[in-house]
Amino acid sequence: MIVLGIETSCDETAAAIVDGERRILANRVLSQIDEHRPFGGIVPEIAARAHLDHIDRLIAEALAAADIDFAQLDGVAATAGPGLIGGLLVGVTTAKAIAAVHDVPFLAVNHLEGHALTARLTDDVAFPYLMLLVSGGHCQLLVVEGVGNYRRLGTTVDDAIGEAFDKAAKMLGLGFPGGPPVEREAARGNPERFALPRPMKGRPGCHFSFSGLKTALRRAIETLPTDAPEADDVADLCAAFQAAVGDVVVDRSANAIKTFLEIHSHGDTLVVAGGVAANTAIRKRLAALAGDKGFKLVAPPMELCTDNAAMIAWAGIERLRLGLTDGLDFRPRPRWPLDPDAPPAVGAGVKA
Ligand code: KG4
Ligand code: ZN
Repeated sequence: MIVLGIETSCDETAAAIVDGERRILANRVLSQIDEHRPFGGIVPEIAARAHLDHIDRLIAEALAAADIDFAQLDGVAATAGPGLIGGLLVGVTTAKAIAAVHDVPFLAVNHLEGHALTARLTDDVAFPYLMLLVSGGHCQLLVVEGVGNYRRLGTTVDDAIGEAFDKAAKMLGLGFPGGPPVEREAARGNPERFALPRPMKGRPGCHFSFSGLKTALRRAIETLPTDAPEADDVADLCAAFQAAVGDVVVDRSANAIKTFLEIHSHGDTLVVAGGVAANTAIRKRLAALAGDKGFKLVAPPMELCTDNAAMIAWAGIERLRLGLTDGLDFRPRPRWPLDPDAPPAVGAGVKA
């Protein structure tokens, strides 16, 4: 079974080819980050145009790298949500056209399902497992019970974790995306010098909140005697920020493990994915937590943790095996929660 995957929901244009033996035959990702950087964030219109400019070429490159042609495909999968509608339309329309012309099934994949099932592509993890998805747009704890079967234990009531890193970096003049420079600065800083809050820590449940931490960071910057923080201040502020985020992530994940064990009598895997999973300090803390609880931490390799099309192709394979194909009338969904029955997080602005 060979499936072409297409990912265009955010600021990566990607095409990949994966087979039923869990082999990634091709995995092409084009980051648009340089086009968005001057704006300090992702501009939807720029993203949609860039997807349109590059997707055909990336698909051709993926086919060439895998040494196959369209006729050998058993299905075409595209991210159909959640995400920016302009980009979703580009990917979904392209996939439908290929599916129609070559008479193969079309698979509309939920981007979050792509992230959630990646651990089965990389590590053959059995259902059920616990998943922490932490990126610029997502911040969720989920129980992955089966294909299309998710239980959301927690989400953020305001910013996603990666978004919090990006905003912190912006305040400190560290550029976009903010995670990597904040981690770098934190490594040489003193986490004790500034006292920052740990929002939600100690509370029941698995929801996240980062806006209070952001505000506290701004106040801490304002207490400095200089107009702009000096190099040591930046390092200490980053260290304090990252330590606070780490405490929150560990606390929320510990509650999620407890809940998971109340629901399931088997399963002992915590999977972490999303761009923030690149953070070594946070990863280490999650590995320690998992160890304490008798769980193992699975973190897919970085290029499969961040947005890519191999995860979409793989989710397509999982769905194709179950006969879960979609009609060519499937409309992209900017909002598409994995667990529509999840109780809403308290507060406004909850992300899908
Ligand atoms: O998964 P991703 O590449 O794209 C989506 O948001 O879907 O995640 C990007 C996010 C950005 O917010 C970025 O600042 C954050 O992941 N990030 C990090 C690190 N590397 C990337 N956050 C903390 N530490 C890092 N080392
Ligand atoms: Zn993503």
